[in-house]
Amino acid sequence: MPSSVVVDGFFGDCGKGKVTSHLALRDKATIVARGGVGPNAGHTVIFRDRTYRLSQLPSGFVYESARLLIGPGVLVNPNTLLEEVELTRTSGRVGLDPNCGIIEDRHIQEDKTSSHLRGKIGTTGTGCGPAQRDRASRTLKMARDIDSLSHLVCDVPGEINDALDEEKSVVLEGSQGTFISLFHGTYPYVTSKDVTASSICADVGLGPKRLDEVILVLKAYVTRVGAGPLENELTKEEAQERGWFEVATVTGRERRSAPFDYQLAERAVMLNSATQLAVTALDVLYPKDRGKTRWKDLTEEGTQFIRGVEEKLNVPVTLIGTGPKTRETVDRTV
Ligand code: IMP
Ligand code: MG
Repeated sequence: MPSSVVVDGFFGDCGKGKVTSHLALRDKATIVARGGVGPNAGHTVIFRDRTYRLSQLPSGFVYESARLLIGPGVLVNPNTLLEEVELTRTSGRVGLDPNCGIIEDRHIQEDKTSSHLRGKIGTTGTGCGPAQRDRASRTLKMARDIDSLSHLVCDVPGEINDALDEEKSVVLEGSQGTFISLFHGTYPYVTSKDVTASSICADVGLGPKRLDEVILVLKAYVTRVGAGPLENELTKEEAQERGWFEVATVTGRERRSAPFDYQLAERAVMLNSATQLAVTALDVLYPKDRGKTRWKDLTEEGTQFIRGVEEKLNVPVTLIGTGPKTRETVDRTV
């Protein structure tokens, strides 16, 4: 069974949630695990006509047999996690590592009121940056210290490595995007951690040789929330005209947008050692491709765009998103 990690090649919000939910169902994943920063992520899953907006739980929850794990590298807001477990009715199969860092109200207050973090950088205000700082100072509480989480605590690296030893299918879900990585992004307009594929593996305790596939998700146009550079940025009016205007999942803020950026995509392929690409929101560029599930049903224009991406980046596009629902996917591997 294949094991894969899903990461975002631009600034976040390329559709990792949807791609991860598709992979969990397709591969009948034994484990779907979350890496990345923490509840600053907003992953939208639309499955069986319900919309779930998750910021802690892995999007692969839609595959009902999957164990859902949160790695020790990920920050947890206990209230948010417990609410999502309730919402998705997954309490029997969720686990988090005792070493997950805990976000407290004071971190959120600081993130929301700091003129530097909220004012200049435009953070999500979820407390992640201040909690990362406290973790580096070795004063942050860990999941093992929190009574309300004790029933969920387990050895996440142990479970995932054991599953891989037994050749079971594992899907790792990253969060944020390559160019808001603390190491590889547009510093200081970045998140509080590296979020490339290597770090997502480290977040759940996997060494660099343990996975088969690195799936890089690229939206058919680029969006960014918060401050920082965005090449060829459109005005809000232009974005609305093209149908690219979006509002952010976690913060409700307006997303800035720009055309697909091959230079960024090429660098993201390099930084993540991508083996496959998922191109999402093709239907936003080519509305006639909406809801299509077979390659041969795509329009000539849509097909040309995908072929162009493959040729320029020299990586196969295996998954194509044709709408926001999990089922609105062309999967060229099946
Ligand atoms: P923070 O991660 O909340 O500290 O925010 C730092 C920057 O990263 C801001 O520009 C945020 O808008 C951006 N950011 C953080 N998480 C996400 C995400 O999941 N999607 C898109 N942008 C994000
Ligand atoms: Mg998002």
